[in-house]
Amino acid sequence: MKSEILKISQISAGQSVVCIIGNDNIPERLNLSKSEKEYAQKQLKAKEEYTFINSYNKCTYLVRLKDGISHHKVREELRKTAYNLRKLIKGNNHSELVITSEESYKGAIEDFVEGLILSFYSFEKYKTQTDESEKLHYPARLLLQGKVADADIKWLVDLTDAVYFTRDLINEPVNHLNATALAGEIKRIGDSAGFSVEVLNKGKIEALKMGGLLAVNKGSVDPPVFCILEWRPANYVNKNPIVLVGKGIVYDTGGLNIKTGDFMAGMNGDMAGAAIVTGILHTAARTGIPLHIIGLIPSTDNRPGGNAYTQGDIITMYNKLTVEIGNTDAEGRLILADAISYASKYAPELIIDIATLTGSAAMTFGNQAIAVMTNADRKYINLLEECGNDVYERIAELPFWDEYGELLKSDISDLKNIGGREAGAIIAGKFLERFAEYPLIHMDIAGTEMLKKDDFYRLKNGPASGLRLLSTFLKKIAADYSK
Ligand code: BES
Ligand code: ZN
Ligand code: ZN
Repeated sequence: MKSEILKISQISAGQSVVCIIGNDNIPERLNLSKSEKEYAQKQLKAKEEYTFINSYNKCTYLVRLKDGISHHKVREELRKTAYNLRKLIKGNNHSELVITSEESYKGAIEDFVEGLILSFYSFEKYKTQTDESEKLHYPARLLLQGKVADADIKWLVDLTDAVYFTRDLINEPVNHLNATALAGEIKRIGDSAGFSVEVLNKGKIEALKMGGLLAVNKGSVDPPVFCILEWRPANYVNKNPIVLVGKGIVYDTGGLNIKTGDFMAGMNGDMAGAAIVTGILHTAARTGIPLHIIGLIPSTDNRPGGNAYTQGDIITMYNKLTVEIGNTDAEGRLILADAISYASKYAPELIIDIATLTGSAAMTFGNQAIAVMTNADRKYINLLEECGNDVYERIAELPFWDEYGELLKSDISDLKNIGGREAGAIIAGKFLERFAEYPLIHMDIAGTEMLKKDDFYRLKNGPASGLRLLSTFLKKIAADYSK
């Protein structure tokens, strides 16, 4: 469940309120007593990020904007304050809570609400023993009071809905979500949001000779799937579609190069890219982004069972290139490569792949930046960077020089699936580029996606990192077309 978001015109007596303020002045319409105001003012002078006033019939939360920092930062601080307030708000058991603002920037209410909703998320469907009295309740309704456009509220509702189900999918363990079950969920989401979903089964994947996806699937008892998602509204403005490709490894054991120690933990989230692509299509369809968008999701688990593929195997990919397997744990690039070459049939304007691809990306940037590599026109990465700052899912670009690709040379096939020890994230990107006949943006979310603890409202396990970024990016691309 999730709080409902509604607009109201006025605050009524007795309603609990969060008010975002730009200075120390306390608005009259909050109806606080003289002593309550004095208390609040003292707290705000002490530069506390928020003040809480518990009157006998209502609660008031005053949130102060940070000053002296860039606008992106001000926005992010507001989302973070929402996270910091989440427990206090839940503890107060409001059935509804007003969010309003005074002397702050346009969009402040939306940013705060976004941070709050994303912080209220939890994954509890398998908890059967939790006592009702132990549960903290978030408000069923958030009532927005102020200058908020209906379209912006709709965007916020649809986007946060997507973040919720995307996180749910990421958090599902593999014994409840294998590749076939994932395809079923994607189909269900497509039906409800209004985009189409075609699911290719193993027979069809064999007929298409998707050698990468089939090789990774060999050690599994469950069949692979390949999902094709399409959003093609009547009013689309791009001549050629944008193709999104998401890594759908429902569990990565490493295969015969099995992950040792603690490295296997969390690998049910290795399909985050797939879930995120689904979330983006949902947001595009629900909000009506006027773009033709295709989503491609190759999916399987990576296991060492039975006839598992192994080091030294030479496989033939969908586009007929041959690949020598150097490591079965470098499986993501194999299934993505088939999807990226499959994208050619759409003659796309741009291909964007998103994947929990390499530990190397995580070692380089930690959890603060999505590693991005591209050979596409610079206008795309410039826009992506701007959107990244806006929603605070920031990107950092890695070089994409051809010399890095030379490390993938094989003596016995067209290329290998691993390079040397260094520059692992870049080499993985260069591998994918070999399969792209159209401009490519490659996004490695291994660092930002698999969090061991909450990074504020980017909650631990799968925060769905990149979903808000790419949804915003596509909305802006459509707007630029219409200019
Ligand atoms: N799914 C992993 C990447 C990963 C690692 C994601 C840690 C999130 C956290 C990927 O399939 C993988 O195992 N990559 C290997 C590649 C190597 C064998 C070239 C890696 O990064 O170690
Ligand atoms: Zn792996
Ligand atoms: Zn993987």
